[in-house]
Amino acid sequence: MNQEHDAGPGRSGVSRRNFLGGGLVAAAVTPLLTGQAEAKAAAAPTVDGVAQVTVRAAVNGSPVTVRVDPRATLLDTLRERLDLKGTKKGCDRGQCGACTVHVDGRRVLSCLTLAATTTGREVTTIEGLADGDRLHPMQQAFVEHDGLQCGFCTPGQIMSAVAMVDDEGGADSDDEIRERMSGNICRCSAYPRIVDAIRDAQQVMR
Ligand code: FES
Ligand code: FES
Repeated sequence: MNQEHDAGPGRSGVSRRNFLGGGLVAAAVTPLLTGQAEAKAAAAPTVDGVAQVTVRAAVNGSPVTVRVDPRATLLDTLRERLDLKGTKKGCDRGQCGACTVHVDGRRVLSCLTLAATTTGREVTTIEGLADGDRLHPMQQAFVEHDGLQCGFCTPGQIMSAVAMVDDEGGADSDDEIRERMSGNICRCSAYPRIVDAIRDAQQVMR
């Protein structure tokens, strides 16, 4: 089911319980599929006279067509155009990892990725990780180990950790987990529990 989105930022409340619990999956994707986003995007201006480009990608398993400024980042497109607010904007300059998503299964910093480069590719965000009501093992491990405090960094931590295990083969020691997760900063310093969660989750995933 395709929807075309012409413009327009949106707001939706996202609690950390929601994204961890998977309730956000339906909440975030449904507007894409029902045309609510299309309706609110009707006034899409051309920014600074720059013509928009059409991006067609699979986002969390659903085909999405969206017209964007060619300078738009994937992060802003996910959050402001597709209402997928689980992906966080921390530094917006590639330094914190809060914006980590998967493109074709690989972890990328969405603040440094142009949305226009994702045509024909599969984009997965934290909202697409759970299987219905069943949390991904990495999400479950973060819950069980209480691997978060404020939760702002957590979507990026989880997306990065999943790709680190699934796409890159995982880590063989706590030191290696810390090294390979070093691009994901936690201002609350929940690192010990994050490492515990990743260590446990990768036993299930490997
Ligand atoms: S928001 Fe992308 S790395 Fe910080
Ligand atoms: S839990 Fe607060 S920034 Fe990581």
